[in-house]
Order: sequence, then structure tokens, then C-alpha cells
Amino acid sequence: MKEGIVDRILKKRLSSFAYERWTDLREEVIAMGVHRRGVHAAQYIKWPADVRLNIGCGPVKTPGYMRIDYCPRVDLRVDLRRPLPIPDDIASELLCEHFLEHLRYPGNAGSFLKECHRILKLGGELYISVPDTRWPMECYVHGREEWEKACEENNWHPEWVKTTMEHVNYHFRQQDEIYGDGHFECHRFAYDEETLALALRRAGFSKVEPRVFDPKRDSEHRRVGSLFMLAIK
Ligand SMILES: C[S@@+](CC[C@H](N)C(=O)[O-])C[C@H]1O[C@@H](n2cnc3c(N)ncnc32)[C@H](O)[C@@H]1O
Repeated sequence: MKEGIVDRILKKRLSSFAYERWTDLREEVIAMGVHRRGVHAAQYIKWPADVRLNIGCGPVKTPGYMRIDYCPRVDLRVDLRRPLPIPDDIASELLCEHFLEHLRYPGNAGSFLKECHRILKLGGELYISVPDTRWPMECYVHGREEWEKACEENNWHPEWVKTTMEHVNYHFRQQDEIYGDGHFECHRFAYDEETLALALRRAGFSKVEPRVFDPKRDSEHRRVGSLFMLAIK
């Protein structure tokens, strides 16, 4: 987000901590407008009888899926913490890669998963992945280096992250030293298999099972370091 004149004045006058709260508020007010426009645009979508959605898609292109995210240049731009302007029982499949960890748990994460359940047809499938937090935990406790090596090889973390504990902290928070908590980019909760499965069952999914990377669906850059789960309505 570009700095405007108000930002520049407040940056001078406020403490850096107060300024961060200001940017949070500004981001939230902007998000309300983006969501309102998304809800309006959704009124004109002619929903096919069956649709596949990539929710929290980011810039990733996934042919065959309608793409939904807060970021620009997607098919539907909305705030996924809010009720979604998508009809009930419309989708046979949802793909959701590395998005859920950006929501507060249990509140926003729970209501988002309930929305996923609502828009899926009976028997519809949610293919979800999140960062696998068991892996860094085990490596930290047992002094194993493979997760840190993967972080470096895949450039998951910025340059300043060096020690194992810095890596672990970054995995949990994904905050940036320049842009504060990055608002929509930061991590707000970490998952292991048990916790993700419980969240999905609480949202109403009848069948929840761990799965492996599926090259036909999952993005290649999510192959390593992800926890993959299938939830069926
Ligand atoms: C780590 S990216 C994942 C993108 C893509 N699925 C992937 O696997 O590369 C997280 C995405 O969540 C989106 N996001 C975070 N909070 C959001 C919100 N409240 N509403 C909509 N999108 C949000 C961000 O815009 C970002 O594109």
C-alpha cells in the first residue's frame, strides 16, 4: 500500500507502535470497500450448476478453477473472513492452499471452513493444505537440520532469518521487519494433522482424512513442507 500524505504525517507524529495500529485500521477500512465491491460483482456472476473454486489462490494460476482471493486480478476479490457471496451447494470441489493459517483460530478459521462446507454440494470435496508445523517442531526438538535446509533451498524465509529459533518464529508469524505484521500476509495460527482435522470436523465435514501431494491439483511449490487434507461434505 502506497503511503499517502496522512500516512506521512502520522508516521512523523505517532510512535512506531501507534503507527502500526493506524496501518492496521487503514487496511481494514480498505478491505471493507474491496469486500463490498466483491459482493456487488458477485450478484452478476452466472454460477454454473457445478463449479470448482480455488479459495485463497493468490497469484497462482489454476486452470479449471474459479479464483478467489483478496489480492487483485482474480475472478472474485473478497475478504474471506466475511460471509461469502457464493450460493449454497454450488461447488463440487474447493482447493485451498496455504490460506487457512492466515486466519485467526478458532474464530475466522472456523467460520471460513463453515462457509466452505455451505458452498460445497453434498459429497463435494475440499482439498486443503497448510504449512506442516510438526516438521519444524520435530526438527527443533531433535536438532535435525532438514527443515531449515528446506527453508533456505525454497527461500521460504527472508535473509535476516538465520538461527533455528528465528526460523521457527518466522514459520509461526511470517511477520516482516519492515511492514509490521503484513496484515493479510502474516500467519495467525499453526496446524498439525490433529488440529486441522478437528477444525474441519467442527465445520461439519463428514469425512476428513490426511492425503498426500496430488500433482493434478496441488501447486508444485506446495509439494514440500505442506500438510495435505481432504474433507468431504
Ligand atoms: C500464502 S498466500 C497463498 C497463495 C496460494 N494459494 C499459494 O499457495 O501460493 C495466502 C493468500 O491468502 C490471501 N489472504 C489472506 N487473508 C485474506 C483474507 N482475509 N481474504 C482474502 N484473501 C486473504 C492473501 O491475499 C494471499 O494471496
